[in-house]
This record gives sequence, structure tokens and C-alpha cells, in this order.
Amino acid sequence: MAASETLVFTEAVRCPVVFGSCRADQLAQLWDDRWRQVALIGDDQVLAVHGEGVASALRELAPRVERFGFPPGEANKTRATKARLEDALLAGGYTRRETCVVALGGGISLDVAGFVAATYARGVPHLAIPTTLLAMVDAAIGGKTGVNTEHGKNLVGAVRQPRGVLIDSALLATLPAAEWPNGLAELIKHAAIADAELLRWIEVHADELGAGPCAISDAPLARCVTIKGRIVQADQHERGLRSVLNFGHTIGHAVEHATRHRVSHGLAVAWGMRVEAAVATERCDFPRADHRRLVALLERLVPAPPTLPPFAELKPFLARDKKSDARGLLRLALPRAIGVMARAADGEHTLAVTEEALSAAWQAELERGR
Ligand SMILES: NC(=O)c1ccc[n+]([C@@H]2O[C@H](COP(=O)([O-])OP(=O)(O)OC[C@H]3O[C@@H](n4cnc5c(N)ncnc54)[C@H](O)[C@@H]3O)[C@@H](O)[C@H]2O)c1
Ligand SMILES: [Zn+2]
Repeated sequence: MAASETLVFTEAVRCPVVFGSCRADQLAQLWDDRWRQVALIGDDQVLAVHGEGVASALRELAPRVERFGFPPGEANKTRATKARLEDALLAGGYTRRETCVVALGGGISLDVAGFVAATYARGVPHLAIPTTLLAMVDAAIGGKTGVNTEHGKNLVGAVRQPRGVLIDSALLATLPAAEWPNGLAELIKHAAIADAELLRWIEVHADELGAGPCAISDAPLARCVTIKGRIVQADQHERGLRSVLNFGHTIGHAVEHATRHRVSHGLAVAWGMRVEAAVATERCDFPRADHRRLVALLERLVPAPPTLPPFAELKPFLARDKKSDARGLLRLALPRAIGVMARAADGEHTLAVTEEALSAAWQAELERGR
């Protein structure tokens, strides 16, 4: 599928997603002529690389376009950053009627800018232009926005759909190499939970993908958008379905915490998928051949974390299910085949797992990795 081809999904994601170059003609498909004042918000690094190109496209659509940056990194995904951006918009006289926020960047920029849009002047419309692979396949879809606090990540925010998302995979060419595995891990996750064909596509293209940031074709990105969009939307009727998006994340988050974020999200989640899939071979008959296949793909595309703590250090960070029973079992979303997630007998999308089972799987993966 050519990169310039335009696909629009409305059903799955409740907002149009356009695949195409970040030019005025593509943005025009998402545009509302009332938007005469455009606040282009992103972190300083992404604005330095792509700010001018995107701003000049936006200038063909609106008379006023200004850039509002903030320092990159999780440490700046804060209420203080949000307040500074809001003050800058207020000082600039951005009005409720004419303003559109355009969020440009990775998940951090989209989360911050989306949250600004959610509350500025009691809410102004926003568009999202993701520039990392992680943001294209994950953060741009679903409508979650927010910031971190000292109490944890993403604890203050809003659920608010952008008025549209533009995915231009050519923007990925400038992505720092270290960011690439973060997106690849989520790409593989989407395939593992919902799309065996997509997993096959990733296997076939693993050499190109493994070489570093590159413009991925639209079709696999669109599959991810549809998968996440469908799951988030269906979750409203079928509560708990969203937890399947957490495959690999119970272990992954614990690894991130236990290593004080020295292991990046992608590496932690990829390792988490290996361990959780190993649990699934015991708990819900996930075929061992599928586990080997998933591990082989992850090994090709996402490096194993350079250091891994012993399982005991993870325990404080493993969220327990208080309802489960007195033993405080963990509940994990587990695959029963590539592309198919298991359901518990009670209809839940997570299965109760003992700490012993998780610990054994952790140990088995550690030994395999050696
Ligand atoms: N809202 C959601 O549903 C959701 C889902 C997943 C993750 N997230 C959030 O996303 C964040 C992580 O996002 P991320 O991995 O995209 O990281 P990020 O936003 O920090 O971007 C990574 C780094 O790459 C730079 N960068 C981004 N695109 C670039 C490009 N094309 N060229 C050059 N440099 C570029 C950025 O400036 C930044 O320094 C986390 O805060 C996480 O909580 C949100
Ligand atoms: Zn994730």
C-alpha cells in the first residue's frame, strides 16, 4: 500500500484517522474552517525536527499558526508544563471559538497537548499528529490524555478524542534509534493479541524493521489503529476487554519500576510478553510452538533488557486483584493462540495466576535468555 494513499476509519476509532503525508491537502480532510488560530504543541525536540514543516502546512489552512514547545522527557510531562502552555495560549489571546490545538510528537507530546486542549477555555478541539511508532500504533488512539504526578504516571488527565489523527510514517525516519523498539514492542503486542496475519507480516519484514527507524507502510499501522480502536470502543459495552491491551504490561511495568526506569518501556514490555506468554502455555494451553515463535520474533526486534532483577524484587510492583480471593491472585490477560486472547470461565478477559506460576515463567525465560 503506497504511503500517500488515504484511509479513513470512523467506525473503529470514533475519530477519523488519515494516513498520508503531513501536507495541507491531507490535513484539510480533518479541518474545520472555524479553526483560525492554531496552537502547534509538541516537545522541543520534535518541534525542532518537524515543527516548521507541519507549521507551514497548517498556514495554508489557518491565518495564525504558532508553535508552543516544552522540554522533552517524562520528567516534563507534568501539570507545571501544562500550566505553562496554557498561560502562553492565554497570553496569546487564543479564543475558545477559533482555536485548534495540533498535538505533534510522541506519546508525551500527544498526552500533554491533548490534555491542554481538553481543559483550555473549557475545551477546544485538537488534532493529533504522532511522530513515534509507539504513538502511531498506540498513544494517538483511544482518547486518553494526561500528565504524571509524584504519585505515579498518567494519574491526572482526561479522556478526550481528537477531532482527527494524521499518520505520516515518513516522519519516523528521524526518530532516535533508541525509541524504535518501544514502538516495535507495541506493534508486536497488537499482532499477538488480535491479528495473526499482522504477526506474519512482521516476521516477513523483520530484517527491515530490525535495521532501525524507517517509514513502515500504512497497512500494518492501520491494522494496529483498528485493533486498538475496536478494543477501546468495545470496552465501553464489554467492561474489562481493554485489559487485553495490557498483555506483557503486568511484568513490563514491574520491570520498569524495579529497575527505576533504566529499562525502557518497549524492552520491559517485550520481556513481559515473553514471560506472560510462558505463563499462558501452562495456564491456558497457549501452544509452545506459538511461544517459541513469539520469543523468536521479539529476540529479533527488541533487545532483552540489559539487566533484570530477581523475581523477588518485582513483587512489590505486581498489581494484585483484590476481588480474586484471600490469596490476592494476579490477573493477567493471556493469549491462547497467536492473535486470540483467552477468556476466563466467568467471562473475564483476565485469568487468575499464582505468584508461583509467574515466578516459574520468569525463571524459565531468564534461563532461555542466557
Ligand atoms: N494516551 C495513551 O493512550 C498512551 C498510550 C501509550 C503510551 N502513552 C504515553 O506515551 C509516552 C511515551 O511516548 P513515546 O514513546 O512516543 O515517547 P516520547 O513522546 O517521549 O518521544 C520520544 C522522544 O523522541 C523524540 N521524537 C519523537 N518523534 C520524533 C521524530 N519523528 N524525530 C525525531 N525525534 C522525535 C521526542 O522529542 C522524544 O524525545 C508515555 O508518557 C506514555 O505514558 C500514552
Ligand atoms: Zn505499552
